[in-house]
Amino acid sequence: MTQTLRPLIAANWKMHGDLSWASKPTDFDRVYPAAERQHLDVLICPPATILASLADGGVLKGGQDCHAAVSGAHTGDMSSEMLKDAGASYVIVGHSERRAGGDTCADVNAKAEAVTRAGLVPIICVGETEDQRDAGNAQAVVSKQITDSVPDIADYVIAYEPVWAIGTGKTATPEDVDEMHNAIRAQVGAGVRLLYGGSVKPANAKDLLSLANVNGALIGGAGLEMDSLADIARAAPKA
Ligand code: PGA
Repeated sequence: MTQTLRPLIAANWKMHGDLSWASKPTDFDRVYPAAERQHLDVLICPPATILASLADGGVLKGGQDCHAAVSGAHTGDMSSEMLKDAGASYVIVGHSERRAGGDTCADVNAKAEAVTRAGLVPIICVGETEDQRDAGNAQAVVSKQITDSVPDIADYVIAYEPVWAIGTGKTATPEDVDEMHNAIRAQVGAGVRLLYGGSVKPANAKDLLSLANVNGALIGGAGLEMDSLADIARAAPKA
């Protein structure tokens, strides 16, 4: 049932970085040259203001969110087509920080469909809160989020990010991640890459990335420095 999927190591810079950060992919390539990482994809999702200026460095580029429409009177928003124009090949949708800002599963579903429409790949984020986990509902919550947030599309990535583990330094145990990812795999099938996110760092990357149904990571804080992003990427298994 499990097939070997190319690891995806994705850095979400959130609201960090100015134009002086545009050269960071070159720094990344210096510490972990492209020739040594043919077995994996590295993705950087910077603030949209930097996206078009981001150096190549042999990394993929992505957006952190999008509007579902192609264009229109939506002040402050941007479409997947615009992100594609600026160099994106992936777009994160449904991050818990966007869901906390009001995005519902229906919104996330429409955004993921829009990303596909633009010819890009959505990274659809799901994850339970601490209360939901404590109540024993983690798997049911995540399963329902997937049912409601994933449109009828062929090419997408799921990022499982327990809300209580994001930016807190608390990582889910490998056992918890394994259990959840096995359940997600059973729901979405063999071909979808499943990322874990939530306080991934060099010290815990190997334990998490070696789990059978973990095909990569979505990294916040530890993805801002290219040395630590490279250390995490090096922990991804070579098929
Ligand atoms: P973190 O963020 O690695 O800083 O916990 C993860 C995320 O929000 O994707």
